[in-house]
Amino acid sequence: MSLVLDPAAQDLLFREARTANAFTDEPVTDEQVQAIYDLVKYGPTAFNQSPLRITLVRSPEARERLVRHMAEGNQPKTAAAPLVAILSADNEFHEELPTLFPHFPQAKDLFFSERPAREGAAALNAALQAAYFIIGVRAAGLAAGPMTGLDFEGVRKEFLDDDHTPLMVVNIGRPGPDAWFPRSPRLAYDDVVTTV
Ligand SMILES: Cc1cc2nc3c(=O)[nH]c(=O)nc-3n(C[C@H](O)[C@H](O)[C@H](O)COP(=O)(O)O)c2cc1C
Repeated sequence: MSLVLDPAAQDLLFREARTANAFTDEPVTDEQVQAIYDLVKYGPTAFNQSPLRITLVRSPEARERLVRHMAEGNQPKTAAAPLVAILSADNEFHEELPTLFPHFPQAKDLFFSERPAREGAAALNAALQAAYFIIGVRAAGLAAGPMTGLDFEGVRKEFLDDDHTPLMVVNIGRPGPDAWFPRSPRLAYDDVVTTV
């Protein structure tokens, strides 16, 4: 009774949504990814800095190059998923701040003139956006398979540049047969929440 979100949407986004390890062949279109992005771009970030960048790995040749950098157990599903996305943090996000945070454009120089400060902020805020992205994939009726079992430096050199830090690779598609591991338990409210 405390949640205002429609119960079917609660199930779609959380209770029945699972991390998929196998997918059908049904393609994931650019239109679907655009709809997902146009929804999740509204998720909050500090100073609205929006440092997440998304690389869609579509060509078979690029897919092969990516699979080589995945941990062995992640390789078959990354090779077979209809779509794979590399999520990265843009450490030069501050260049966009005058546009993204127009009521306080000084933020760019006041807080983010130093690269280490930008890297810390970008890692946190792009990770938040990665979570929004996963929920957005679910909102499109698709399943996501996020993975950090990979050679990050290899992926960075292969697909990105010094200004971008890879965060995770996400398989995306409609879940296929035997797509799930057994659902693991979650921590109970009382194990997680304290009140002071
Ligand atoms: C950031 C992140 C990294 C993950 N890395 C891997 C991975 O490398 N390989 C893998 O098989 N699963 C990976 N997972 C999947 C998690 O184990 C899975 O999401 C979690 O156990 C919950 O599963 P459920 O959604 O089916 O309940 C990752 C998940 C996240 C969010």
